[in-house]
Amino acid sequence: MRVLILGARGMLGKDLEPVLGSIHQVLARDVEDFDITDPRRARKEIEKLRPQIVINTAAYTDVDGCESKKDLAFSVNADGARNVAEACATIQARMIHLSTDYVFDGSSPTPYREEDLPNPLNVYGLSKLRGEQDIQKTLRNYLIIRTQWLYGRHGKNFVDTIIRLSEKQNELRMVNDQRGSPTFTQDLSWAIKQTLEKNITGTLHITNSGSCTWFELARQIFKEKKPLPGGVRIIPISSAELPRPARRPENSALDCSRWESIIGQKMRPWKEALKEYLAS
Ligand SMILES: NC(=O)c1ccc[n+]([C@@H]2O[C@H](COP(=O)([O-])OP(=O)(O)OC[C@H]3O[C@@H](n4cnc5c(N)ncnc54)[C@H](OP(=O)(O)O)[C@@H]3O)[C@@H](O)[C@H]2O)c1
Repeated sequence: MRVLILGARGMLGKDLEPVLGSIHQVLARDVEDFDITDPRRARKEIEKLRPQIVINTAAYTDVDGCESKKDLAFSVNADGARNVAEACATIQARMIHLSTDYVFDGSSPTPYREEDLPNPLNVYGLSKLRGEQDIQKTLRNYLIIRTQWLYGRHGKNFVDTIIRLSEKQNELRMVNDQRGSPTFTQDLSWAIKQTLEKNITGTLHITNSGSCTWFELARQIFKEKKPLPGGVRIIPISSAELPRPARRPENSALDCSRWESIIGQKMRPWKEALKEYLAS
């Protein structure tokens, strides 16, 4: 199939391109040649490229930055998603769109299912939710994939940041009251490839299996990547001790049972995926 990836230079986009390229004809575009905030250009490009599937990984993903750049957040994450959906509608292309656990408020004691009521706590989550809703209004042939806590070889992420900080600081203070599932972009890329083969529509949660807090993730990073530089300590703290511009949900782990029942198996455990990432 002819697949167009938008936001192709991003962390997920860069892993996705070779994975899909093994069996599909892949066209990769990013902001300089396909700015999703420009509706006329989006439509013109899609009519020219004529993909059967458009995967929108393009987003403004700086969660704290979204609080001060609200217009930019809504322009890319909400209007941009709608522009892509409208352009897909003109050529009857199928749209696969990436969204986030931050559409939920994190107050649930159990992982969130696809049909649970969203209630974002921050501008990023609100803008991504608006994007989801606009796609649902515009298209029938769409798949919204919500994922979370991404790390990968091609982008700024928590895992690399923690390793870098451990080389400069003696104390790493890590939030221990937010829970989620760290997800390797390589694994997510393979999962997205499977969604193309299965022709899944609607909304789907996909993450590596199991969950942890940021503190537990930091501890696991150094358990795998021995040794923690001499004298460095990891200290658990509460979110209140680390004020940030954007509020984060406490328990935003996603229930992936819809995905598991379609595919017949769970995504591999987050610890296993992390181990492979750290070894590479
Ligand atoms: N990272 C996470 O932890 C996480 C968690 C849950 C969901 N997600 C979702 O997963 C998707 C991929 O995330 P990611 O971490 O791979 O993001 P990323 O690394 O920030 O990549 C996004 C890409 O989109 C590009 N972009 C920005 N504005 C654009 C525009 N107007 N038109 C076209 N492209 C534009 C960015 O270019 P510039 O870099 O030049 O701005 C970047 O190359 C996003 O939809 C995100 O919301 C991510």
